[in-house]
Amino acid sequence: MKTSFSGIILVFLIQLGFVLSYKEYLFKTCSSAGFCHRNREFARNVKEASHFVPQYAIDPKSVEVDPELYVIKGQISKHLAQLDKSVQLPFQLTLLDKNNVRFQIFEDRSTAEPKNALVNTARYNETAKWSFKSDEVTIEKVQDEKVIDDENHLSFRFGKDGKYRAELNYSPVKLVIYAGDEVQLVMNDHNFLNYEHFRTENENSKHLSPYETDFDMFSESFKDARHDKIPMGPESVSSDFTFKGFKHVYGIPEHADSFNLKDTTGSDLPYRLFNIDLAEYVPNSRMPMYGSIPFLLASKPGVSVGLFWINSADTFIDIDKKHEEDTSTHWMSENGVLDVVLSIGDRPEDINESYGSLTGYVQLPPLFSLGYHQCRWNYNDEKDVLNINSLFDEHQIPYDVIWLDVEYADSRKYFTWQPDKFPDPEGMLKELDVTGRNLVVIIDPHIKTGFVLGDTIREKGIAMKDSENNSFVGQCWPGESVWLDSMNPGSQEFWDKQHALSDENTFMGRFSTNLYMWNDMSEPSIFDGIETTSPRSNLHYGNWEHRSVHNVFGLTFHEATYKALIKRLQSTERQRPFILTRSFYAGSQRTAAMWTGDNTAKWEYLKASIPMVLTLGVSGMPFAGADVGGFFGDPSKELLTRWYQTGIWYPFFRAHATMDTKRREPWVPGGSYTSILRDTIRLRYALLPMWYTSFFESSQTGVPVLKPTFYDNLNDIESYDIEDQFYLGNSGILVKPVTDEGASSTEIYLPDEQIYYDFTGGRITNRSYQLGEPGFVTKDVSLADIPMLLKGGSIVAAKNRYRRSSRLMANDPYTLTVALDKDGHASGRLYVDDGSSFNYESGEYLDVNFTADKTSIASTSDSNNAFANSLGHIKVEKIQILGRRDVSDIKAECDGETWNLNFKTEGANTIITNPMLPVNKNWTVHLQSDGNKEPAEEEQRPEGVLSSGLLVSVGVILASSAAALKYFSVL
Ligand code: GLC
Repeated sequence: MKTSFSGIILVFLIQLGFVLSYKEYLFKTCSSAGFCHRNREFARNVKEASHFVPQYAIDPKSVEVDPELYVIKGQISKHLAQLDKSVQLPFQLTLLDKNNVRFQIFEDRSTAEPKNALVNTARYNETAKWSFKSDEVTIEKVQDEKVIDDENHLSFRFGKDGKYRAELNYSPVKLVIYAGDEVQLVMNDHNFLNYEHFRTENENSKHLSPYETDFDMFSESFKDARHDKIPMGPESVSSDFTFKGFKHVYGIPEHADSFNLKDTTGSDLPYRLFNIDLAEYVPNSRMPMYGSIPFLLASKPGVSVGLFWINSADTFIDIDKKHEEDTSTHWMSENGVLDVVLSIGDRPEDINESYGSLTGYVQLPPLFSLGYHQCRWNYNDEKDVLNINSLFDEHQIPYDVIWLDVEYADSRKYFTWQPDKFPDPEGMLKELDVTGRNLVVIIDPHIKTGFVLGDTIREKGIAMKDSENNSFVGQCWPGESVWLDSMNPGSQEFWDKQHALSDENTFMGRFSTNLYMWNDMSEPSIFDGIETTSPRSNLHYGNWEHRSVHNVFGLTFHEATYKALIKRLQSTERQRPFILTRSFYAGSQRTAAMWTGDNTAKWEYLKASIPMVLTLGVSGMPFAGADVGGFFGDPSKELLTRWYQTGIWYPFFRAHATMDTKRREPWVPGGSYTSILRDTIRLRYALLPMWYTSFFESSQTGVPVLKPTFYDNLNDIESYDIEDQFYLGNSGILVKPVTDEGASSTEIYLPDEQIYYDFTGGRITNRSYQLGEPGFVTKDVSLADIPMLLKGGSIVAAKNRYRRSSRLMANDPYTLTVALDKDGHASGRLYVDDGSSFNYESGEYLDVNFTADKTSIASTSDSNNAFANSLGHIKVEKIQILGRRDVSDIKAECDGETWNLNFKTEGANTIITNPMLPVNKNWTVHLQSDGNKEPAEEEQRPEGVLSSGLLVSVGVILASSAAALKYFSVL
C-alpha cells in the first residue's frame, strides 16, 4: 500500500520534472512553510528596498538598568506605518555566567482573542525551562559604570579584564558583540528582525509593512495540514546574525550533512529544525531529522562565538556564505518568544563550556554503556537472547548490552512481556548479569488504546490532547494509541510506577537493576500525522499548542524516564540510568544518549555518520552514534567490517538492523572477517579507560568527546573543513576510519608540525610522520587496518586483556604508551571511578596525571578518598616508550623505594615489562640514556634526511604533494 502510494507520487514528480525527491515532497520546504516563506520574502524585500525604513526601534526613555547593574530592560516599538501606531515589545538584556549575553523580546498577548478559546494566548516562554540545566541561571553583573551612554545605544563590557563588549543600538535595533574593538557578531545586521505581533484576520492588511507578504498567516495550504486553524494567526519570530570574519560555522543538528555548514541561499531547503521520523534519511541534505539543537558555533583563529536560539517551534536557518569575509545567518521560528544567547571566547572549547553552563554537560555515562551494544529488531525470545549471549563468549568477543525492540512486548503494549516468548524475564536478566551484561528494552511514548495503561493515561488526563481537549488518538507501532503528555507534571507519578522495582510490577520485577531503557519515536512519530508527527493544534499541559513545544517534547519524555529510573533504587544504592533517545533537544545530553536513526547499509551512510557525530559533539550532545551496519538493507562483508572499524569510534557504539535483514552478529561473516571484527571490538574495550576519561572531561567542561581536527590547531584554516577524522578526546589518538569501498590507501590530515606515531589498530610500530607544515600523509591500508596515529606529547592508558564485558575488566592492569613530542615531552590523564554510582559526585574517584620527558615518566594524583585508596591492587603492567631505543637503565621510585625495572628494545621503541606500579600511587620511572643507538639493521637512513636531534624514532613516511615534508629521522 505504502509502496504503491510512493510510486504514484514519484511518477507524478518525474512527469512534472520536479527535482524534489519523494521525501522532500512529503515534508515542508521553506516555500511551503508559512512562516519561512514569509520571512524569506521579508528578507528579500528588505534587501532590495532602495530606501529601507526600519520598523523596530528602542525607545531610549524606556531603557532601565537596575541599580546593581544586573538586568537591562526596555521596550522595542514596532511601528505600523499604515495605522501610524506602534506595538510595544518588552525586551530584556542580561549577562549570564561564562560570557553568555542573553537577549529576549516578549509580547503581551493577554487580551488577544484566539480562534480556539482553549489555547493559551501567551507566547510560549518555557523552552529554556526544559532546556536549561536549572531554573536558576546566574545573572552576572555587567561592567562599565555608565551602561547607558547616550540616546542611541547602550553598552557594557564583560569577560576577563573587560575583554568583550556588548552594544545595543536603538534604531534600527542591533546587538553587537565585540572582542576588543573588533566586531565579531551582529544581530539584525541586515534588518531581517521580524516579530509578527498579534492581530485578527480582519485587521491584518493594515498591520503589514510594505516588506511583508500574508502567505498562510491564518490558514494552512500544505497538504493535509489544511485543517490547522492557526488560532493565534501569524506569530513568527526571526532575525539575522552576521559572524564577522568567520567562514566556518558548525552545529544546528540534526542533519545528514557536512560538518562545516553549507550555504543555503538559492535552495528551498534552508537547515530545518523540526523533529520528525525520517526513515531512510537522505545524506547530504538539510532536511530535518529526529532531533534539534538550535546552537551554532563559529570559529576562526583567536575568536570563537556561539549562538543559541532558544525556541522549540519549527525553525529554519538560512546560511549565506557569499559575503567576502563573513557568514550571515537568518533564523526563523514559527512562534514562541525571541530568546537568544550569544557567547564569545578565544577558542571553540570556551563556547562549548559557555553553552554547557546553561544546558548542562553530558552526564558521565555508566561505564557499561561505553561498551558494545548488540541490537536488532528483534531478538525473538529468551532462548534467542541467551543464545546470542553465549555466542559472544564462544567467539571471545566482548559486549555489554543486548537490546529488545518492540516485539518483546505483548502486542507492542509496553510494560508487558510476550508471555510465551519471555516467560521468565527476571531469570534472563540474572543470567546476563552473571557476566556483567545488561538488557535494554524499548519503551515508546505511544500507548495502545484499550490496554489498561492506555486507558489509565486517558482517565488521568495525562495524554496529549487534540484541539478540542480530548485525548488525542493516532496510529503507531501498537496500532491505535494515545501519547503520554510528559510535559504534564501529573504524568511523572504514573511513569515512576511503571519503572519501579516491586513485587507488583511484573514488568520490572524486584531485582531488574540491569534493565535499561530505549525511548524511541518521541518526535513524536505518528504514522497518520502530517509530516509523520502530531498536529500542531494538539494541546499539552498548560494549554500550549503542540506547535510551540514540538522540538522539546522528546526531551521531556526521556527526562521523565530518567527521573523514574533514578527513583527505582534508594538513594544510597542509586545507579546512573542509561537511556537512549532518538528525539532530542538542547539539554538532552544531561539524561540520554542518542543515535542517528534509520540509516541504510550503504557506503554513503557510513561516510555521513562521521560529520553527523562530530556535529553533535560540538553541539553539546557527545553521547551519539549511528546504527553500525546500517538499519535498512544487508551490508556486504567489507562494508560491515569498515562500519565496525568506524563504529568503535562512535561514543555510543551499537549495531542494529531492521526486521527483514539477515542476521549479522560479528561471527556471522565468518573467517578472517570475524577475526577482524573481534580485534576491532576488543580495541574499543582496550581503550575504554580513554573513552571514560574523555567522557569525564566532557561532563565537566562540555568539550566534545570526539575532538574535531581543527580544535587542535586553530591557526590552520585548512583543518576547519576536515570532517572525516578526529581525535579521541585529549588522548592524542587521531583516527581516520576507512569509509570507501575497496580502499587500499587513505590520506590523514596532520594539522600541525608535531610528530605523529603510527598506531594502526592501536598497535605500536616503527613508523611516525612529521610534516613541516599542516598537510596530508598517505597510508596504505588493508581490510584489517584502522588508520590511527598517536600524537607526540600524549600518554595513553589502555587495558589490553580480553574480558567478556566492561564490568569484568575492573581489576585489570594498565598498559601505558608514551609518545614524546618534538621537544621531548608528553602528558596524559586517566580518570577512574566505580563506573556506575553517583559517588564520584562526592569526590570518590581517582584522577591521575602522567607526565614524561627524556629522563623520566611520572604518575601523580592527589586523589585521596576511599575509592582511590582501594585501587592499590591495580597495576601498570607495561610501559611502551615510542621512538626511544637509547635507554640503558630504568629505575622505578615509589613510596621512598627505588628498584630496577626490566625492559627491552623492540624496533624503534622501548618496552618496560612488568613494572607493576600501582595505578593509585605517585611514582617516577627514571630513564638513563646511553646516547644515540645505531639504527636497527632493517632500517635505512633515507637520503637527505635531517636529524631531529631528539630521542624519537621515525620510520618511512609518505607525504602528499601538497604538504612540505620537513624531516624524518631514523635513529
Ligand atoms: C524506529 C527506530 C528503529 C526501531 C524501530 C522499531 O524505526 O528508529 O531503530 O528498530 O522503530 O522499534
